[in-house]
Parts: sequence; C-alpha cells; structure tokens
Amino acid sequence: MKKLIAKILKKALAEKGIELKEEEIEGSLEIPPSSDLGDYSFPCFSLKEKLKDNPVKIASEIKNKINSSENFESIQAKGAYINFFLNREKIAGNLIKEILKEKDNFGKPDAKKKEKIMIEFSQANTHKAFHVGHIRGTSIGESLARIFEFSGEKVLRANYQGDSGMHVAKWIWCYKKYHSKEKLRKDESWIASIYVDSVKHLAENELLQKEVDVINRKLSEGKDKSLVSLWKKTRKLSLDSFVKIYKELNTHFDVYFFESKVEKSGKKITEELLKKRIAEISDDAIIVDLKKYNLGVWVLLRKDKTVLYSAKDLALAEEKFKKFKLDKNIYVIGAAQSLHMAQLFKTLELMKFKKAGNCEFVPFSEVRLPTGKMSSRTGENILYSDFLKEMTDYSKEEIKKRQPLISEKELENRALKISIASIKYFMLKQSSNRVIIFSKEDALNFEGDSGAYILYSYARASSIIKKAGKNFKKNLEKGKLESAEFELIKKLLQFKDIVLNSFSNRNPAAIANYSYQLSQLFNEFYHACPVINSDREDFRLSLINSFRQVLKNSLYLLGIEAIEEM
Ligand code: ARG
Repeated sequence: MKKLIAKILKKALAEKGIELKEEEIEGSLEIPPSSDLGDYSFPCFSLKEKLKDNPVKIASEIKNKINSSENFESIQAKGAYINFFLNREKIAGNLIKEILKEKDNFGKPDAKKKEKIMIEFSQANTHKAFHVGHIRGTSIGESLARIFEFSGEKVLRANYQGDSGMHVAKWIWCYKKYHSKEKLRKDESWIASIYVDSVKHLAENELLQKEVDVINRKLSEGKDKSLVSLWKKTRKLSLDSFVKIYKELNTHFDVYFFESKVEKSGKKITEELLKKRIAEISDDAIIVDLKKYNLGVWVLLRKDKTVLYSAKDLALAEEKFKKFKLDKNIYVIGAAQSLHMAQLFKTLELMKFKKAGNCEFVPFSEVRLPTGKMSSRTGENILYSDFLKEMTDYSKEEIKKRQPLISEKELENRALKISIASIKYFMLKQSSNRVIIFSKEDALNFEGDSGAYILYSYARASSIIKKAGKNFKKNLEKGKLESAEFELIKKLLQFKDIVLNSFSNRNPAAIANYSYQLSQLFNEFYHACPVINSDREDFRLSLINSFRQVLKNSLYLLGIEAIEEM
C-alpha cells in the first residue's frame, strides 16, 4: 500500500516542482496512531525549506493535485499532514483474495537481481559448550537466511567451527592430565565440563600454561600420532553432539568450515603479508599494526609460530569467495568480536582483497540469565541442554494446567515445540544490539508478548477454520467493516513493508514484533466479532484464514514452526 501511495504522491509533488524518489516518500509515510487521522499519512514539514512556504498550506496544495483512486475513500489535508483514508471494503476484498491466492508466497518483495549470499552463523566451537549465546546467534542467522531467501536471494548457510587452537589444546591437556581414566563421552555437558576444569586449573597455577602451549604446538605440527588421534576422536564427539541441537532449532547448514582447515592457508597469507610489509615482526610474533586506524595491533602468528584466530579468518574470507563465487559474505557474530571484525575488514582492505567491500558484519549482544534461577552444571555458561530441559519442564506444567488429560507422548512433543518457539521468539523480538536478560516466565507467558502466545493464536485460528469445516466462500460480501475487522486487515496490509524492513536492517525483530501485534489484533477481533453462524460468517472465516496464512509466513521467516493444536 505504501508503494501505491508513494506513487500517487510522487506525481502530485512533481507538479509542485518537487522531485522525490518513491523510496524516499515511502520512507516518510506514517501510520497515524488512530484511524480517525487516516490510515496512512504524509507529513509536509520537510518541504518547508524547498517551497519556502508554510507546511499547512503546502499540505493542502499538494492534496489538491492528487488524483483520487478507487483505493481511497478520501484523501484529506489536516494541519501539515496529508491523510489517506482507505476504501476499507475494497481493500479488504482485494487483500484477502491476494493472500489466499499467494499463500506461502504472500509478502514476497518484487523480483530483483538474485545475489549469492553466504550467511555464516552459529559457529559453536568443538570441545566447548553450546550455550545460550549460541542459541541467539543461531536464531538470528537462520531467520536472516529465510528472510533473504524469501526476498529472492540465493542463500548459503555456513557454519565455521573452532576445532583447533588454544581452547582445544587446553581441553586435551586437561583430559590427559586429570581425566584420562574417564571414558570419552558424546555428552555435551561432559565435554564442556572438561574445558571448564582446564580453565580452573590454569587459573590456579599460571605455570601450567607452558604445558598447554606444548600441546598446542604439537597439535598444530600434527606429527604426534596419539595426540592427533585423541583430537580427531574428541572433535567428532563434539560435532556429533551439535547435530541434534541444530535439528531442534530448525536449522541446517549448506557449508561447514573449520578452523583446523584454514590454519595452513592462514600461515601462508601471513607470510605474504610480511613480504608485502603489510604485516611486521614484533617481539618475535607477526602482527598487523592498525593503530593508525584506531584498531590497535592485530596478532596473526604467535612467537612459537602457531596460527591465531585472526590469520585463520583472513584465509577463510579468501576461501569463501574463491570456492563459492559469492556476491556477499555476511558474518553473524557476537558483538564482543566487533574489534576483531573491524581489524579483519581493515586488513582485507589493506591487502587489496577485491571482495573486502562485500563483507558484512551483523553483530548481536549477549544473553544473560537472572542469576540463581536457571541451573548450570558447568559454572560459567548455561548449557543448551540444561537450558532446554528447564524450559520444557516449565512448559509441561503450563500445558497440563490447560489440558490435564493430555497424553504423555503428546505432552513431550508439544512442550518441546512450544519451548523452542518461545526461546527463539524471545531471542528475536529484541533488536540484535540489545542485551537480553532471559526470563523463562516471560518467554513462556501464554498471555504476554511471547512465542507461546503467538503459537496459541495460530492454533486458535486453525481450530476455528477446522470447526467451520465446509468450504466457505472466499469472496466476500461488501457490507461495512467493523472496526476490529478493519484493524486486523490494516495490519495484514503491512506485512510486505515489515519483511522489507527486516531485510534492509538485517534484523528479524521487526517481523517478530509484527507477529505479536498481528496476533493481538486477531484476538481482539475474535472477541469483538462472532464468526460461526453470524451473518458475516464467510467473510470472517476468510479473514481468519488470511490471518492464519500471514502469521504462518511470519513465523516461517523467524524459523519458528507453527503448530495446529495447543
Ligand atoms: N568460533 C568463534 C567463537 O566461538 C566464532 C567464529 C566467528 N566467525 C568468524 N569468521 N570469525 O568465538
């Protein structure tokens, strides 16, 4: 709708000698807080300078230049605003028809040139815990991947796992020194606990780090057969433990990169940078001096010539573009690594890497938990498995309150789906730059701004449609719309703009918030308007069906699975 209004306004503005792009006009369109002021409005304050006139007068003059269209009941100038009142009945009919025809494709932006975009996300390291922060990154990454695909891009989902480097050396050192009697286990929390133990020992006695360094060097040389074999075995245990997690989180990857696989090439690039004098030797290590750019010193190789995370990232960027011919390379990574990413991008630029400008960093802030409330067996981080268990236990209680007779199997199944949806929604509804304080009570509040509430609204719509049973007529008598009906339709009308907003800002939060507001309006409508056996049954069922479809599309873009029954 915004597009159509922008088109109309562009023409009228041109007659007054003002050339504005459609997108600019679209960007300044507002949705008034109350429908009495129109459904969309265009503020004229910014035209004051150009036309050297008072904005109230400008608004009324431009209004007079507008050709009316059948989509609007009226267009009025009020104060410095031009207000557009939709022809509600006409819009409603057309919109519902469009939604029910396009179904899962409803809301797709207009086709444009397809780009090949790699989105790297999740990046859990082996030999360490998959923790709540990883859930946030994984949720954002998967959602962005879907939004990009929906917007017509070719997306490659990539994971880049830290399976080598100091944290792995610490794990192996600790296992050999303190736990060698224990059998190796594919259990995420056992694996994480060994790492935590290594950190504890090293904190108690700094001198032990020397032993870890030896292991790190040996691992990187790869000549010590028994060490390498232990590394391979434990690496696999870790990776296997992630498979189930990714499945539960509704995500998958097209490409897996590993730090161990870019060590050699990272070293090679470092040597080239040294020759080109982009890198230098400092205190026997190899560094890139980025102080000039306010980015400090970036160490590529340690004194003992082992490769650091930084050098590996240079190699990774090269490999991504070389192997996959990407147009864009997006990194979804915790904001704690902002400096590292700036150093990476600057160094790529200094080495005249052609695609440096096609790399993009999408940072997200951390997830905290109200201390003491959620359990943690390992101390530092909250493990995924502990976290999920606590959530599913809690949702089982909530479900049983509502459905005491539910079977044990169905209870398990539903609790898992509701928990995952609620966790993901909680992670996505807040902008990526905000720290999340996770509260399971809020996340699972069936009456609040939660995934559970949204799933519940969807299930409710599904059950109404199911109950109605018969193949109700799709179109749509043109009686006058009730305001609750129209508010819902107006929200449905916004879906396309919201998708575009999330796409351009690389932020699923707009879609998440939209799906909550949409659910609220649906519930208000349902309270206000009887459906079955009312004299507007066909129309209202079609409206509910449209709501259900658009909410389904929104949830899909968030990477959340809708369920038919709650
Ligand atoms: N595995 C890394 C970590 O846990 C994150 C990797 C991010 N991606 C990258 N290309 N640096 O810190």
